[in-house]
Amino acid sequence: MIVLTQVMLPQDTNSAGNVHGGTIMKLADNAAFVVASRHCRTNVVTASVDRIDFLAPVYTGDLLILHARLNWTGHASMEIGIKIDSEDLFSGTVRHVATALLTFVSLDEKGRPIQVPPLILESDEDRMIFEEAAQRASIRQETREREI
Ligand SMILES: CC(C)(COP(=O)(O)OP(=O)(O)OC[C@H]1O[C@@H](n2cnc3c(N)ncnc32)[C@H](O)[C@@H]1OP(=O)(O)O)[C@@H](O)C(=O)NCCC(=O)NCCS
Repeated sequence: MIVLTQVMLPQDTNSAGNVHGGTIMKLADNAAFVVASRHCRTNVVTASVDRIDFLAPVYTGDLLILHARLNWTGHASMEIGIKIDSEDLFSGTVRHVATALLTFVSLDEKGRPIQVPPLILESDEDRMIFEEAAQRASIRQETREREI
């Protein structure tokens, strides 16, 4: 699990002060990249973003807090789950503003997918999260095979 924080500045927002979804997506990708890199210590790339739901607005001056964890490992791919909160730095109020699921793939020096280290499951919660992510990975694969 890693926590990435960043204060939202005017360049991150529209003219009304709402933070762009793309700003949040880029930070989610960065946070997932760190989790995947630390797990594999190889080159890792984003393969897909399942979905990202923006549940509440984020404004200029808010602190964005991204909690990223490794949910599941397959052969060369991994799912990283991100919970995104915002903190109003004046009031201290923290709100859950978005959730994202990303799949990263580990690559060797020639850019080919390479086996990732297995995820060590230490708790019942880890096992439950792993199982749910495994089901999503299987659905993702079936969907891709249908679309190709
Ligand atoms: C992701 C990528 C490496 C997969 O390469 P590939 O030759 O299709 O790999 P494979 O079919 O052998 O699949 C390798 C693994 O990736 C997974 N995978 C491939 N495409 C995927 C996708 N779109 N979403 C989720 N997982 C995917 C496979 O399920 C497989 O998982 P497993 O090894 O755990 O069973 C390749 O498509 C790529 O390089 N894409 C561009 C990545 C990039 O540049 N990202 C930055 C944003 S542009």
